[in-house]
Amino acid sequence: MLPLRPPEKFPKNLQNPKIGTRLKRSRLHYTKSVLRSAHGKLFLSRRLDLLRDRHHHQHSWRKMNFAYADPPYLGQGKKLYGYAMWDDLNTHGEFIKRLHAHFPDGWALSASSPSLPKILPLCPPDVRIGAWVKPFAVFKPNVNPAYAWEPVIFRGGRKRDRKQPTVRDWCSQVITLKKGLTGAKPEQVCEWIIQLLGARRDEDTFKDIFPGTGVFGRVWGNSK
Ligand SMILES: C[S@@+](CC[C@H](N)C(=O)[O-])C[C@H]1O[C@@H](n2cnc3c(N)ncnc32)[C@H](O)[C@@H]1O
Repeated sequence: MLPLRPPEKFPKNLQNPKIGTRLKRSRLHYTKSVLRSAHGKLFLSRRLDLLRDRHHHQHSWRKMNFAYADPPYLGQGKKLYGYAMWDDLNTHGEFIKRLHAHFPDGWALSASSPSLPKILPLCPPDVRIGAWVKPFAVFKPNVNPAYAWEPVIFRGGRKRDRKQPTVRDWCSQVITLKKGLTGAKPEQVCEWIIQLLGARRDEDTFKDIFPGTGVFGRVWGNSK
């Protein structure tokens, strides 16, 4: 093993602050010169490999906690659900901060396409955008082009290896009707969101923060 510490010739007594400072500097100098040497570089690259392997291992196999958030879309809070707070962009900003802080392993957030330009800048820079496209959607008079897709902003998730099937960042599914709640998601969309994050039912948790009809929880739990 390559010595990373200076030899014992340095006095151990560090009580005198001046000696301490000098000592710290010499140690730093020694460490730097060791790390610059060929042995040091080899040592560092092995350490990095080790850390990368450990990270990969932890990232791939430890239990992960994910969340799906389907809050009222910006501007629809009061009108559709009686929660006016969601008509304020600040509420969405605060919510996204908390979502990100509480679920560092990964999360997905539904939004409407008109709100995307305002919601996206509130998200961390490493998010991706999935699209739920609706081959059948309600066409409103004088709304042309129709709003026939919804963004799903997502980040994190399990790393997948080459053997696992590639998940598309879009899902084509007709809207649900007569579920008793505007904005209820079809089962297939819930399953796609689970796949987007690569969540494993046998290991992970997946919290649905705005259950509504409870469809997401059923899809997550049913296929255990
Ligand atoms: C878009 S819907 C969720 C639909 C759900 N994903 C589904 O597929 O059935 C939003 C839900 O969040 C609820 N909600 C919104 N703001 C809330 C709040 N502050 N506290 C509790 N529930 C809230 C609404 O009542 C509504 O049921």
